Amino acid sequence: MWGTITPMHLSSPTPFPANRPRRLRRDAFTRDLVRENRLTPHDFIYPVFVHEGTQLRVPVPSMPGVERLSLDLLLPVAGECVRLGIPYLALFPSIDAQLKTPDGKEALNPEGLIPRVVRALKKEFPQLGVMTDVALDPYTSHGQDGMLDDTGYILNDETVEILVGQALAHAQAGVDMVAPSDMMDGRIGAIRDALEAHGHIHTRIMAYSAKYASAFYGPFRDAVGSAANLGRSNKDVYQMDPANTDEALREVALDLAEGADMVMVKPGMPYLDVLRRVKDEFKVPTFAYQVSGEYAMLKAAAANGWLDHDKVMLEALLAFKRAGADGILTYFALDAARLLTK
Ligand code: PBG
Repeated sequence: MWGTITPMHLSSPTPFPANRPRRLRRDAFTRDLVRENRLTPHDFIYPVFVHEGTQLRVPVPSMPGVERLSLDLLLPVAGECVRLGIPYLALFPSIDAQLKTPDGKEALNPEGLIPRVVRALKKEFPQLGVMTDVALDPYTSHGQDGMLDDTGYILNDETVEILVGQALAHAQAGVDMVAPSDMMDGRIGAIRDALEAHGHIHTRIMAYSAKYASAFYGPFRDAVGSAANLGRSNKDVYQMDPANTDEALREVALDLAEGADMVMVKPGMPYLDVLRRVKDEFKVPTFAYQVSGEYAMLKAAAANGWLDHDKVMLEALLAFKRAGADGILTYFALDAARLLTK
């Protein structure tokens, strides 16, 4: 009966779908073959928190599985990154309270925590990339990324001058890449000029270009110890308004014109649309930061048994690749790399 073509069959829709997309999903080997995006450990930058001391390990309560480490305890973690194929570490300091000042000038100290950690890491693991944050919030007594005027407004050009000194201190210590996360205007150009003028022509700049004034940074501020100092104030006068995307393109264009080698969108998952627009428009190395609050959400839901930890972790990370990221800063880097290399 199916073989018989009747006038009725010709006039009504075919009883079979003309296309069966499910053919490509039927078995694991075919899904493997047609997969468009893949995660590998080489996609990750692992953000780590360091503090002074030896054998000192302090868990960050709002980021289960994340600890602030002294240098001696960080070295084996760096070794693990090398073993797993994670190309870069991103360093964030927790600075002793008595070193914090309104102008954050400890950030310029060539013998400060970050320059010492950079030198030690590069000596021990020259094959591991090290990147540092350029911003004053870990060093200021008020927890803002820059200096304040009498009204409490964050000064731009005065802050940029200090940031330039901070970036130079990191470059002199041998850092591979600096990442200005402060959102001051003109800082990429100023830092690039200073790096060139001092012969640091190889130091890469990853600009936090589209960095939003986000509530998802809360746990990070606990980790670096800026949350209490910041109190009820916010960063709305320099970080971007979460409502905007055209503005993100403008920020990226400026940072590239000023000499950035790579750009970043931050936070990650709530801003995948911004990531896609940036990648499509500029076609430069583009990174996403899956921030502390995103990590905390997934960890909390998994700890409650509401989500499958490993599956949501890999799905969330893959989403960044699909949205156009060339790489991801993620606190899941070690966990994910271990799963992916099993
Ligand atoms: C500091 C900085 C922040 C983050 C990275 N660098 C916090 C902020 O801007 O307040 C956030 C990272 C995270 O939440 O994981 N300039």
